[in-house]
Formats: sequence, C-alpha cells, structure tokens
Amino acid sequence: MANITLDGVNRSFGSVRAVHDISLTIADGEFFTLLGPSGCGKTTLLRMVAGFAELETGEIRFGERRIDTLPAHRRNTGMVFQNYAIFPNLKVSDNVAYGLRARKIGAPEIAERVARALRLVKLAEHNDRWPHQLSGGQLQRVAIARALVIEPEVLLLDEPLSNLDAKLRVEMRGEIRQLQQTLGITAIYVTHDQEEALAISDRIAVMRAGRFEQIGAPEEIYRRPSTPFVAEFMGTTNLLQGNVGSNGASIKVGGTEFAVPRLEAPEGTAISFSLRPEALRPLIDNEAAPDGWAVVSAKLARLEFLGALTRIEANLSHGAPLRVAWLDLPLHRLKAGDPLRFAYDPARVTVFA
Ligand SMILES: Nc1ncnc2c1ncn2[C@@H]1O[C@H](COP(=O)(O)OP(=O)(O)OP(=O)(O)O)[C@@H](O)[C@H]1O
Ligand SMILES: [Mg+2]
Repeated sequence: MANITLDGVNRSFGSVRAVHDISLTIADGEFFTLLGPSGCGKTTLLRMVAGFAELETGEIRFGERRIDTLPAHRRNTGMVFQNYAIFPNLKVSDNVAYGLRARKIGAPEIAERVARALRLVKLAEHNDRWPHQLSGGQLQRVAIARALVIEPEVLLLDEPLSNLDAKLRVEMRGEIRQLQQTLGITAIYVTHDQEEALAISDRIAVMRAGRFEQIGAPEEIYRRPSTPFVAEFMGTTNLLQGNVGSNGASIKVGGTEFAVPRLEAPEGTAISFSLRPEALRPLIDNEAAPDGWAVVSAKLARLEFLGALTRIEANLSHGAPLRVAWLDLPLHRLKAGDPLRFAYDPARVTVFA
C-alpha cells in the first residue's frame, strides 16, 4: 500500500524557493505527473521523495509511514534518471543487479530477479551485453529494469525519455505506462513535455515557480485550465483579452465579438479567455454553423501544412492573430488575405475570472 502524502513541503536554494509549500496526496497505483517549465522545481520535488534532497519543512509519508526522515536506500523507491546513469563498465545484467547486491541478497535470488526484470522490459536476450552495445531506447529500459528489480513501492522517473528521438519517445512512454499498470505500482513522472504528460498520466500537476498552478486529470487540465499560464503551457491556444459585452454572454475583442458561456461580470469588465485552435471549425463557402454555435470572421495570414493537420494563423478585424488547427484541409487554394469564417461552440471558451 503506497499512497504518497506530501504535507507542507518546502525547499529553497538561497533566495530561490524551488519548492513552495506543496501539499498533495497521490493514490495507491496512480500515475502522477509533475509538469512545468525548466526551473519550476520538478526535479527538486522528486528528489525529496527519493531521499536525494532534504526538506526544509514538511513531511512525506508512504501510507502511514513517514519516510522523509529515512535515508534514500530505506525508502523503497526506484528512481530512473534523465541520463539513465548506467554504469558503462558493467554488463546489462550487472547494472540491473547492482541495487540487489548493495542489499546483500543471495546470488540465486539475484539471478532470478534480474532475469525477471529484464523480461519485463523485453531485454532478456541482452543480459550479457555491454551498455555501449545498446540503443538509447534499450539503455532507457535497462534503467527502468534497474529501478524495478528492487520491487519498489514507488517508481520515480525524471524526464526518462528526453534523450530519445521523437518516435521512440512515443513508443517508450506507452511501454512505461503499460508496465506501471501491470505492476500496479505508484509512479511520479517528471516531464516538461505537455503531450507526454497528457498521454500517460492519471493526474497532472502543472508547476510554476515552486508551486502547483493546477492539479487534475489530463482532459480537465487541457479543457478547463484554471489560469492563462496553464492554458498556454498545455499546448497551443488563443489567449484573448477583451471587455464583457452588453448581453452578458459575449466578450468584445477589438471590433470582434466572441460568444462565451454566461458571465457574472458587469458590461465593460476587462476579461481574458482561451479558445483552442482545434475548437474553431472552418466553414467552407457558404456552409452554415452547427446549431447553437457562434461564428468569427478573420483574414488568412499564414498557413502551415503539417500533413494530417494544417495550422492557420488568421487576423481578426483589428489585426490580432487567431490560430486555427484545420484537420484534413481540402484542396483549396487559400492565399494570404482571403476572408475566412470559423464556427465554435461557446461552451468551449474558457473565461478567466
Ligand atoms: N543544488 C542546487 N543549488 C542551487 N540551486 C538549485 C539547486 N538545485 C536546484 N536549484 C534551483 O532550484 C530551482 C528548481 O530546480 P529544479 O532542478 O527542481 O527544476 P526543474 O523543474 O527540474 O527544471 P528542468 O526542467 O530544467 O530540469 C531552479 O531555480 C534551480 O536553479
Ligand atoms: Mg529537472
């Protein structure tokens, strides 16, 4: 049983508050991701759970057991580091066995557990190889096997995929998620890649300057960001600013009126909102908008063809940019300056109080 509780955890380096009064409970078996820009405190927080960084104040517990006062090797955590930290002078099997030897476990049991861990990460055939004979993805799996072989209660991963190319990263994140679910192990995963976080997590904490900006399930964080920072960090968006219109369900941005969910704020109040590029559906020729949807007009500025998706930047009447993601662009000869219309469901607009 390893739910993880952090209670009022703090850590500063000089004047930098790397981790600022963090409290959190992660459920047993949950895949929890710390996501945020460089320097926001992800690694520091993870290292505090692992036992490689001290807390200034606060407590960390696994279940009922307080662990922040224990040395790292007695916390029962397995950690995978960004650079794998594989020993180049040890063969694959000896790299994986390392943690078990340090724990004074008998040779036959070590052999059996190493073989099992290597089977788990699909490297059974590679046990006798040297690290320099492995690919990046294989090295990364050795690092995971080495963390799992000690049968930790909690698996901690610090940007484990950042050294891999894009395709392998996608493949490996699926494997990590599957392995975590098969073993039912609690995991904390650190990344600054929002797509990776969305793809594999049960819950995500978006961090900013040592604090949690928002915690939630991937869909919640993406669809209902609680702040402009989260909206912009979680992929591309249109972050617009305007004033509440007369009917209480619109916001005027320059000369353009956007329909939004009903607002409490009085007419004229300055307000910002987010509208995702893929929530805007291009209307071709005289096509009508679906029932209950609103329409916004803009002039094409730039178009970027990406295969399945075409990214468009258009300009609103007063010149502000509007980004649109157009799936499966029909063979149209669009050129800069062409007038375009986009439909959107007002419910897809996130207004920030
Ligand atoms: N040992 C240290 N000494 C001094 N400052 C540190 C130390 N470790 C971290 N910091 C500072 O604490 C802050 C948080 O660092 P941390 O490494 O946790 O960020 P991060 O979110 O993991 O960033 P990245 O995505 O770049 O890995 C940064 O401002 C960093 O410079
Ligand atoms: Mg880091």
